[in-house]
Amino acid sequence: MIYFSRTGEQYTVGVIEKGNTAIVAEMIAEQTGADLFEVLPADDHYPMTYDALTEVARAEQNDNARPAYSGELPDLSGYSTVFIGAPVWWGDWPMIMYTVFENNDFSGKKLIPFSTHEGSGLSGFDDKLKGACPDAEVLKGLAIRGNDAQNAQEEVKKSVGSWLTELGF
Ligand SMILES: Cc1cc2nc3c(=O)[nH]c(=O)nc-3n(C[C@H](O)[C@H](O)[C@H](O)COP(=O)(O)O)c2cc1C
Repeated sequence: MIYFSRTGEQYTVGVIEKGNTAIVAEMIAEQTGADLFEVLPADDHYPMTYDALTEVARAEQNDNARPAYSGELPDLSGYSTVFIGAPVWWGDWPMIMYTVFENNDFSGKKLIPFSTHEGSGLSGFDDKLKGACPDAEVLKGLAIRGNDAQNAQEEVKKSVGSWLTELGF
């Protein structure tokens, strides 16, 4: 599993110590035994306050930027299925995730997207992932409200569980 997530000030939840997407990623890992890999920015230029972060994210999107992540992803050749999760930023994957999609070979793999969000749902993460990784198979995604990830974890665990069951886990 590959995920990106931010701590600091987030929409509707205040200042958080564990990112919303990170919480969902850990639930999926707990229920599937998936290995976790967190995408971290190479130089962490993302502000810890919400308004400032939205501006940086907006500028990256407008520039169609490919922000660098730190380190290497683990060797993915041994994995046939990869969960990929991130917060919705301005209706799309954070641009750093496109760096991940383009710098790694996902061909022939099953990719399972998930988002956390505050109203936009999956925001086409599935189709956008397919566009970025055309030789992969993209399976049914899951969208969880960030606020629920922080504050309604029992319900979120159930949603994660039924989605995983539907996917055949
Ligand atoms: C830069 C930025 C842009 C966002 N854009 C959207 C959006 O378009 N739609 C939405 O529903 N939520 C949006 N949100 C809310 C986040 O998707 C939500 O708070 C998410 O759970 C944060 O996850 P994280 O703690 O893992 O980073 C945005 C948040 C940020 C910081």
